[in-house]
Amino acid sequence: MDPHFPLPKSEPSANFLHIIGTSIASSLANILGDEVNQVVYASIEISTEGPYDLELAVPKLGAVLKDMNPSEIAAKVAKEYTPDELIEAVAASGSSLSFNIRSASMMRQVLEIIYSTSQTPKRGYGTNTLGNGKRLVIEFSSPDIAMPFHVGHRRSTVIGAALSNLYAANGWDVTKLNYLGYRGTQCALLAAGFDKHGSKEKLEKEDPIMYLYGVYLVIYRDFKAKEGQRRDDTKQMVKDYFKRLEKGDPHLIEMLQRFRELSILEYIKIYERLNVQFDVYDGESLVSAESIKDVMDQLGKQGLLIGVTMEDGRKSKRGKIAALKVEEGENKHEDLLAKDLALAIDLNEFKLGKPVLQNPDGTATPILRDIAAAIDRYHKYHFDKMLYVVGNQQNLHFAQCFKILSLLKDCPFDASEKLKHINFSQVKGMAIPTLWPSANLVFLKDILDSAKEMMMKRIKASPEKFETIEDLELTSDQIGMTAVKVQDLQAKRSMSYHFDWERVTSFEGDTGPYLQYTHARLCSMERMVALEDGLAISSLESIDTSLLLSTPKAREMVFYLATFPDVVRTALKTHEPSNLVTYCFKLAHLISSAWETLGVEVFVGRGEKEVAEARLLLYACAKNVLGSAMKMLSLTPLERI
Ligand code: ARG
Repeated sequence: MDPHFPLPKSEPSANFLHIIGTSIASSLANILGDEVNQVVYASIEISTEGPYDLELAVPKLGAVLKDMNPSEIAAKVAKEYTPDELIEAVAASGSSLSFNIRSASMMRQVLEIIYSTSQTPKRGYGTNTLGNGKRLVIEFSSPDIAMPFHVGHRRSTVIGAALSNLYAANGWDVTKLNYLGYRGTQCALLAAGFDKHGSKEKLEKEDPIMYLYGVYLVIYRDFKAKEGQRRDDTKQMVKDYFKRLEKGDPHLIEMLQRFRELSILEYIKIYERLNVQFDVYDGESLVSAESIKDVMDQLGKQGLLIGVTMEDGRKSKRGKIAALKVEEGENKHEDLLAKDLALAIDLNEFKLGKPVLQNPDGTATPILRDIAAAIDRYHKYHFDKMLYVVGNQQNLHFAQCFKILSLLKDCPFDASEKLKHINFSQVKGMAIPTLWPSANLVFLKDILDSAKEMMMKRIKASPEKFETIEDLELTSDQIGMTAVKVQDLQAKRSMSYHFDWERVTSFEGDTGPYLQYTHARLCSMERMVALEDGLAISSLESIDTSLLLSTPKAREMVFYLATFPDVVRTALKTHEPSNLVTYCFKLAHLISSAWETLGVEVFVGRGEKEVAEARLLLYACAKNVLGSAMKMLSLTPLERI
């Protein structure tokens, strides 16, 4: 059988481990029969401990080999496998097979793949074509208009940006969407507050979000004040605004439109600083009334709506309805509305409660808006998949949304297959500003400014280490940003963590600054040998990679570089950018520990230019992979620090 016969999803020209997997699969097919080919390919794994590189648990072939004994199969394979250009040794231990890759082939081929793909950055090393022809819509960040951006939005932004890049790296066509929140009560409060206390000049001149938030706090205090303590008329005023808002009062709509525009301009600044771009600024207020009505009509037709009364005054802390009194068995939604009931859907059989879709005054709740928005987006983008990167406090909300969409007969897509909530835990030690403000708020801008300042201090404290910095401000900001982002990405999404300034901004240990430092050090080494020794890689043909064979560290590093394309696939499957962060750290450790035994300059001095060149190629490839992985995490790898 042709050893390079491409197996499903394999990309031998871009992934050395696929070349190896294909070759092992074909050798085993020769020994055991063609039917094992694919299952062998899919079952080979990287050994977690030496001395072998790869492993195959023979029982995994059970389904195709039926009644043969796994240990006997392993022994037979070990005996009959003929070492070749790619595999130099095969051993059996019980029912497990181990393989060692021939070092010379690995050195040459891996470095060749990395070097040649780095010449075509569009299809850089690590990327693949699995998602070609498929479209992803990814919604992330989604702050509420005129409200500051807080830590929850930050983690969504950082995870969402990394996932967008990962999907693009896996060949998908990605549309990044920001669904700006629009909370009725909050907007009514804000509009009332602005008319009463606001100043148009200040709004245009100052940081509009912070300014509006200030206005909001003033009116909020009035609104929440006990009767007699402050202006009692505020409550009535807000109620009036709320009514006007629901009726579509042009003055209010225009005012909120302006708030929205100014908010977006402000968010864009933050996103630029974070190296994140959106394709679409969508929003809760932009969901079409027609789609909302269609959803309700359809649910009504299917007999899924029930009327409920809302017991006022029993609202939970976050403003959600805590108590519902249900009147079952009524399904004609016009009748229900006429009776001044809210409309809900009973999802108890799925253990998802009875979410309210429409308030007694006819307005849509956030769930109904999300349902209609999903349908609108499908018509617009025809996505194959849509992700919502939102904190885990909204698990129930999305489970309800997706369930309702899958119950909806005329939903144009299969919600259970196409929609996914990418949730994450909250960062501890940082309060989230809410509609109901608390005293200890932490805003993103403050965090980024503090990170920048801390980095600047650290850099100034050891000038000898950072002498090549050209723009201290910018570099400090970028390292600070890396520090914060890496901290957000490094834990699995389900893990919450304590924000720890000391740890985050350290150049030692597994931190963002350490990654930047490692990358910049590789760049600086390249610059130095080019300048002082005229050493640079001009073509691959002239480089003798076998000169790297005497150094075990070089082999270890090359093998690790070979695993990168599969890490990119796995991180997508698990939706865990943390897989990529872990990869970066391990690679940075390998690079750091290689410095001692794998110098470049010293060989130039000794006249061994070929060795120096081979080592330079290895470091250039390591730098390329570290840089690509960092970029996928939306970090900007620095060339000098
Ligand atoms: N704006 C919301 C918040 O700040 C998040 C929106 C999440 N996305 C959605 N489609 N519901 O908490």
